[in-house]
Amino acid sequence: MPGPWSRLGCFGPVVSLALDNGLGRRPPMGYNTWNDLGCKDMSEENVKAVADIMVSSGLKDAGYEYLNLDDCWMAPNRDADGKLIGDLDRFPSGMKALGDYIHGRGLKFGIYTDRGDQTCQNLPASLGNEAIDAKTFADWGVDYVKEDNCHSSTGANDKDVLFEQFGVMRDALNATGRPIFFSVCGGGDQLPWNKLDYYATDERGGAKLANAWRISPDVMEWETLQLAIDVNAGLAKYAQAGGFNDADMLLGTSKNSAKHMTQRHSRAQFNLWAIMASPLLIGANLRELADYDLATYTNKEIIAVNQDSLAKQGIRVREYKASAGLSWSIWARHLQDGSVAMVFFNTFPNSATLTCDASCWDQLPLKKQQKLSVRDLWLHAAAEQADAVAGESYSVKLDAGVASVILKFSPTEVLV
Ligand code: GLA
Repeated sequence: MPGPWSRLGCFGPVVSLALDNGLGRRPPMGYNTWNDLGCKDMSEENVKAVADIMVSSGLKDAGYEYLNLDDCWMAPNRDADGKLIGDLDRFPSGMKALGDYIHGRGLKFGIYTDRGDQTCQNLPASLGNEAIDAKTFADWGVDYVKEDNCHSSTGANDKDVLFEQFGVMRDALNATGRPIFFSVCGGGDQLPWNKLDYYATDERGGAKLANAWRISPDVMEWETLQLAIDVNAGLAKYAQAGGFNDADMLLGTSKNSAKHMTQRHSRAQFNLWAIMASPLLIGANLRELADYDLATYTNKEIIAVNQDSLAKQGIRVREYKASAGLSWSIWARHLQDGSVAMVFFNTFPNSATLTCDASCWDQLPLKKQQKLSVRDLWLHAAAEQADAVAGESYSVKLDAGVASVILKFSPTEVLV
C-alpha cells in the first residue's frame, strides 16, 4: 500500500492529509478506564459515576477534561449496517447517550479502537472500516480516539504497514470535519517489550501522524515506568504543540486501584510526567480515590508546568546510573515565562546530593549569572535553598529510595 504522505493516484498526485485537527496544543489531561474499570467493571453506571466524580472532586476544574473509554466498550459484533455498536449489556442506553451525559458534565468523550481487525481484547476493531468507524465516532460526539496496535496481520512491528494503517484512521478522522484528538497506542501485543521510539522518530510518525503516541509498553508498575522514562529521555525534541510523546497513564496509590504504587513513587511519576510534557491521564480508581492522589493530581503549579504553552518537553540534563533501577538524574524544562522547571530524582537506597553544575546549566536557556528565585512546587513556597545563580552549582539533598522534588527557577531581574 502507498505511504501516507503523497502518492500517485489515477488522476495525478493525491496528497494524503497530515494531521490537521488543531488539537493537542498542550498534553491532554483526563482519565482512562483501562487500569481502573478494565473489562470487568466497564459499564454505563461506572462511567457515569466517573464523570460525576471528575466534576465533584475538582479534577475537571483542574484541567482533566477527557473521559476516555478504553477497550471493552463495544459489542462482539457490528450491526447490520457494519457499524460498531456499544455492548448493550454494559451500555444499555447506547454510546451516543453516554457521550451526551459526559458532555452534559462539561467533559469530553474519548473512545478506543485498534488498527487491526480486533482490539487487544478480541473485540471488533477498525481495519478496513476506518471511514465508517470515524463517522460513527463523530456522530456520537466523540472528541478523542485512541487506536491500538493488536491483531495486525503482518505483526506489531511492521513499520510500513503500521504507519499506513494508522494514517488511514488519521485521515478518516480528519475527513469527518469534527476535531477529534488522535492518540496512537503502539503498545498492543508488541513483542518483545522493547522501546517504541520510532513512533516519534520515524518521518511518518510524531505530530504528522497523531496528537500523542505511546513510546513504551504499558506502565503497570515501577519497572515499566522507569523504562518509559528512559525511552522518553531520548525523544524530547519530537514533542511540540500539536503532538506529544505519551509515557502512558498515571498510577495512584490507592489499594483499591488495580495498579498502584507508593506515595513517593506516584509523586515522582507526576513530577516527571510534568517535566516530560506527557499526557496526564489518570488510571486510578476514581470511585475510591485516595485523598493523597487527589492532592497529587490537582497540584496546580505542577499541572502548569505540564501544560506550559511553550510545549517544550524537558530534557535529562544529568544522569548517574549504577544499574537498571539505580540512578539519579536531573531534568529541566524551559517554560514560556522564561523560567525553568527542574526535577531532581533519586532511586538509590541511600540519600544523595544532586548538583546542577556548570555543564548542567550549559544546557539550559538561561544567561550565565542570571539571578534566580527557586520555588518548591510541592511546598508551594520558596525552596530550602531559595536563590540560585545560573551557571553556579545548585544542590539538592534527596532522601534514600525513590525521592524527587520539582523546583521552578525564575529570573529575578532582567539581564541585558
Ligand atoms: C493495550 C494497550 C493498553 C490498553 C489495552 C486494552 O495493552 O497498550 O493501554 O488499551 O491494550 O486492551
